[in-house]
Amino acid sequence: MTQTDAPIETPPRAPTPKHQFGTLAVHAGSPHDPVTGAVIEAISLSTTFAQTTVGQPVGAYEYTRSSNPNRDNFETSIAALEHARYALAFSSGSATTANILQSLAAGSHVISVSDVYGGTHRYFTKVAAAHGVTVTFTPSLNLHTSLTELIRPTTTLVWIESPSNPTLSLVDIRAVSSEAHKHGINVVVDNTFCSPYVQTPLDLGADIVVHSVTKYINGHSDVLMGVAALNSPVLYEQLSFLQNAIGAVPSAFDCWLAHRGVKTLHLRARAASENALRIATLLSESPHVLAVNYPGLASHPQRSIAIKQHRDGLGGGMLSFRIRGGSEGAARFCAATQIFTLAESLGGVESLVEVPASMTHGGIPREAREAAGVWDDLVRVSCGIEDAVDLEADVRQALEVAVNGHNGVKNGA
Ligand SMILES: Cc1ncc(COP(=O)(O)O)c(C=O)c1O
Repeated sequence: MTQTDAPIETPPRAPTPKHQFGTLAVHAGSPHDPVTGAVIEAISLSTTFAQTTVGQPVGAYEYTRSSNPNRDNFETSIAALEHARYALAFSSGSATTANILQSLAAGSHVISVSDVYGGTHRYFTKVAAAHGVTVTFTPSLNLHTSLTELIRPTTTLVWIESPSNPTLSLVDIRAVSSEAHKHGINVVVDNTFCSPYVQTPLDLGADIVVHSVTKYINGHSDVLMGVAALNSPVLYEQLSFLQNAIGAVPSAFDCWLAHRGVKTLHLRARAASENALRIATLLSESPHVLAVNYPGLASHPQRSIAIKQHRDGLGGGMLSFRIRGGSEGAARFCAATQIFTLAESLGGVESLVEVPASMTHGGIPREAREAAGVWDDLVRVSCGIEDAVDLEADVRQALEVAVNGHNGVKNGA
């Protein structure tokens, strides 16, 4: 991506899909096998594909790093769900970020929201810098005038995470995109926390949407994968070249698993969001809790943005909260839950808890971390799709153990 003085290309958008989300999730990229009639695609493990004469492959494929049937089908599915013309799958969410940053010319400048995923922060500060790309972090992308102040002649990209990880702050994607586009700058949105069921950033003007597929899209905590979805043929050309040239691609088996996972995304994302609202409400009423970050609550400072850009104003399945008792209180809470497992990651069918300051975001220097609201007492919660009453009871007892000091013995669910 290189910056010019001209406004950036406005590529044609993907045609409006004929079907609703659930129908697309089940059917997009899922052709029946033309030979056997199999309703579920076969896993195509072959790394190489026969050619009849030199340069004449039998079908559409030559070598699995360049493309394979399972990756194609998965990419077709995600493109449909994100209302994109193209999707490109990678071996992880982090590899997706790396490929996008690799596409920037040396000397480029990126503006990013401050509270990005810790690994994204690590890539921006430790890896991108090594090939001459600098990143300015800002907590204030919501005031789109602040964007104008940060723009340099070399700025080529704005990086948004909305909701952000782990503080669940939101960015008005449409406002930022229209401001960025006036300066010829592309906008990337990490949509991992929402999934395309809750939010479709390309519809709001973003140029590229990225996901850690590892989370909601796969949804079963058994695949590491990433994906980028976009409309611009120029960006697609650049990124698909790098997808093959760098080779950080997912296996056919992982594509097959993630494709199977995404077929129930609409059911899982809605159930997780309903559970998260119940848990956020309980936490916000608890004397043991200092603050709750959840965009589904009326008290969230950017609730109006959630109403504008999330499906049905849903808050998603993720929330975080500050517990009384500092880092020890947070650690005691996470050790005391019996249904919520203490573990990194998110977006699976099972509920998880973690302490970002010492786990997922531990690599970010304390000052930068706290400036972004990631305090030692912050607990991040990924609500799964278990029954809400059980999750509520578990949170209630863990709060008592954490703050009132009763001994909690972790027995498993
Ligand atoms: C918001 C967000 N983006 C990107 C990533 C990186 O994804 P992966 O772990 O698949 O490399 C994560 C991982 O937790 C994440 O939470």
